[in-house]
Amino acid sequence: AADDDPGEVLVDWYATAARDLPWRRPGVDPWGVLVSEVMLQQTPVVRVEPVWRQWMARWPTPAALAAVSPAELIRAWGKLGYPRRALRLREAAVALVERHGGVVPPDVTALEALPGVGTYTARAVACFGHGQPQPVVDTNVRRVVARLVHGRAEAAPARSADLADVAALAPTDPARAVRFAIAVMELGALVCVARTPRCGACPVRNACAWRQAGCPAADGPPRRV
Ligand code: ADE
Repeated sequence: AADDDPGEVLVDWYATAARDLPWRRPGVDPWGVLVSEVMLQQTPVVRVEPVWRQWMARWPTPAALAAVSPAELIRAWGKLGYPRRALRLREAAVALVERHGGVVPPDVTALEALPGVGTYTARAVACFGHGQPQPVVDTNVRRVVARLVHGRAEAAPARSADLADVAALAPTDPARAVRFAIAVMELGALVCVARTPRCGACPVRNACAWRQAGCPAADGPPRRV
């Protein structure tokens, strides 16, 4: 039944528990999603929020960003860190103008071919930006799957099976599968956190293999993230 299918439960949990982040609001286009995901690759949400708002107000399209000088973009990147990302984003904007008519394409392969866009970012843009039900796997998602599905405290180093594990949990309804993708990330960010998971607040604790196993500590070599 839907109320004990963890994928369905997570979609309903997200509707009540998720953070209201500007790039998740209705009307944000795939370009806005791409900019947010590149900023979030190595910078916490609270620091990304104001910079993302400024960037979207100043450069609302790939063509607008492609026309800005690298020096100005580095300045506008401010304190987000790893400023090479600003230059990559500009290169991606140029590629979007030259190869895709100035729009962000919907297919994962074309997205992965853009500068600075890896498999995570490509899937995030296809899913959150274009509404495609794609598995989207980041560090948080891998930890949730390790616990919920495999009964392990921590994710192993990236495995090719991760995408399939996440796809297997997703609801079949495409619109719910899109919300599920971000719900798993949000669970990993807010509840199923690395050091001190808040299992008492977890909507899928009764389905969790790790909890059923008594929350065993991680074994093996020290954690690599
Ligand atoms: N929403 C969409 N993608 C996100 C991310 N990478 N981090 C936090 N919130 C997000």
